[in-house]
Amino acid sequence: EKTAIGIAHSKLILIGEHAVVHGQPAIAIPFPLIGVETVIERVPGTVKMDSSFYHGPLYLAPEALQGIVKCVEASLEYLEIPCKDLLIRINSSIPPGKGLGSSASVAISVIRSLFDFADRECTDEELLELANVAETYAHGAPSGLDTLTITSRSPVWYKKENPIDYIDLGEDFHFIVADSGRVGDTRTSVESVAKLLKSAPKRIQRKMDRIGELTHQAKHALERASKHFLGQLLNEAQKELESLGVSDAGLNKLIYFARKEGALGAKLTGGGNGGCIIALAQNEVHSKLLAEKLKKYGATAVWPFVLKKH
Ligand code: MEV
Repeated sequence: EKTAIGIAHSKLILIGEHAVVHGQPAIAIPFPLIGVETVIERVPGTVKMDSSFYHGPLYLAPEALQGIVKCVEASLEYLEIPCKDLLIRINSSIPPGKGLGSSASVAISVIRSLFDFADRECTDEELLELANVAETYAHGAPSGLDTLTITSRSPVWYKKENPIDYIDLGEDFHFIVADSGRVGDTRTSVESVAKLLKSAPKRIQRKMDRIGELTHQAKHALERASKHFLGQLLNEAQKELESLGVSDAGLNKLIYFARKEGALGAKLTGGGNGGCIIALAQNEVHSKLLAEKLKKYGATAVWPFVLKKH
């Protein structure tokens, strides 16, 4: 009997979140330490297109779950697989609601498993198109950044309505992601920024432009291996995000401690108001040390990781 598998990793936004929604560039990076595995088996007489599909420690918001079901339906139809006798088991190690791309990773892992089930190779275009079926349910109007980053092995340079670009790193960079423990609602933070922009267009537009400028400089810092400069840029971006009201006491505390313990820079990552921070460490040893310290300071999970020059 055929068993099919599809895996997908997670993603992080390094810099440019929120401003990317309003036309500025963002840099996102693949985050392979956590991810999703989907296994499909043929089990006669079982399939229902509902949440009984899901086994294991998976939680998705109802809209996201509905998105996955729609995405399964669209993929089955596209692959001409009859929708019967299928058991789809999804196992995710990505905490949901933390800006780590949980919903998009689930979608991509599921699509890959369905292609494997059909013995078909899957092109990036097919993958992105089918994944965006799910993302449209999960996030309303997705920028597409999550799905692009989850299918990429290199850092992604992204600007709405522009072809995607990849960034060549000048060296390895060592980061730590730390979870504040609270779930953030990206949709609400995105809406609050849109409201601000409407109420004080000039002042807020200047902030958007500033984040865009910092993101351009961060691309150069990554390419030229200027990690101290990159750290400063992350700190500057955090200042802007705070002034947009998307950081909160829990994130600020972790950011403060990360810097105090020698991080070259630290900021929130993703939607904010809950969720995670990303900090740039001095080197590999420091990233492990920093991870331990952040755990002591209250992070509910920490992931030291290296962004590798290819
Ligand atoms: C969320 O991970 C990133 C935001 O910029 C929203 C988006 O790009 O759709 C806050």
